[in-house]
Amino acid sequence: MTTQTTTPTLVHTRQELAAALAVQDVQAVPRAEGRAAHTARPHRRAVVMTMGALHAGHLSLVAKARELADAVVVTIFVNPLQFGAGEDLSRYPRDLHGDLALLSGPGLLGPDDIVFAPGPDVVYPDGDPVVRVSAGAIGEVLEGVSRPGHLDGVLTVVLKLLHLTRPDVALFGRKDAQQLAAVRRMVRDLDVPVVVHGAPLVRDDDGLALSSRNAYLSADEHRRALGLSQALRLAAQEREADGIRSTALDTLRAAGVDAVDYVALVDPETFAEVPSSYVGDALLLVAAQVGATRLIDNDTVTVGGPA
Ligand code: PAF
Repeated sequence: MTTQTTTPTLVHTRQELAAALAVQDVQAVPRAEGRAAHTARPHRRAVVMTMGALHAGHLSLVAKARELADAVVVTIFVNPLQFGAGEDLSRYPRDLHGDLALLSGPGLLGPDDIVFAPGPDVVYPDGDPVVRVSAGAIGEVLEGVSRPGHLDGVLTVVLKLLHLTRPDVALFGRKDAQQLAAVRRMVRDLDVPVVVHGAPLVRDDDGLALSSRNAYLSADEHRRALGLSQALRLAAQEREADGIRSTALDTLRAAGVDAVDYVALVDPETFAEVPSSYVGDALLLVAAQVGATRLIDNDTVTVGGPA
C-alpha cells in the first residue's frame, strides 16, 4: 500500500514504485527548455541507495541530492548478494521507522520524494540472479580479497536499482571508495545513462568515519577504532609512498585494533598500488577488525613532490 503524508512516499513493491515515479515524472519540472526558468537544480531525479540504519553520512547524501535534483528517491535494501558466508547479513541493523523519521527532517525529503524499501523477493523475484555484474579487476583487490564477490553483489543491485528508479544522478559516499570507483567504472563501461556523484565522507567529532556498523562497537572498541582515522592523519604527514604505508600500519597496530586487514596506497581510479617512487595524489585506504566488527576508512594523500 502507498502511504502519502507530509513525510516521503513510502513504497515497497515494484508497482508502487512505478506509480510514485509516474507522479514525480508529472510533477517534477520537465527536462525540456522551460526547465532553466523553473529550477536552478541541474537534475530532475536523484537516487541515494542505502541499506538503512541511516546516520549523518547518509543524510548528507540526501541533502546533496535535494540540492542537485527536483525529485529524490532513497532506496533502503539490505542486499543479500553483497554479504559473504559468515558476514553480518542477519544481524545488520534494520530500523525503517527510525530511517523514515530521519529522512523527513528539515531540508531532506518531502511528500513528492520517494523511499523505496523492497524486500529480497521484490528485488530478486526469481531468487538469486543467474546473470550478474562483474566488478572485474577493481573487484579483485582490497575489499575483493577480504570479501570475495562483494563488489559484484553491490554492482548487480546498484544496476537493478538504477533501472527501477530511473534517476538522472546517483549519489554515493566516498567512505566506500572502492565501491564508488567500481560504480563509476560500471557506468562508463556499460554506458549506463546516469551521472555518478561522489560525496565527502562524514566523521564523528572524534574522527571515526560514520558507518552503520559503528553501532556494533563497545566503548572500548570505539576507542580502538579511532586508530583507523589516526592512521590516515599521521600517514598523511609523510612524503614518500613507503613511509605513508608504514606509518599507517604502525598507527593501526599501536591503537590496538584486533587485526589489520589491509593498508593500501592506490591510484584512485584503477585501485592499483602506486610504486615507491610515485609522485602525485593517491588514495590511502585502511581496513581493520575491531572486536567482531570490520571497519574501513580512506583519505586522499599527496605523495612525493617538493619538500
Ligand atoms: O553502500 C551501500 O550501502 C550499499 O553497498 C549499496 C550501494 C546501497 C548497495 O547495496
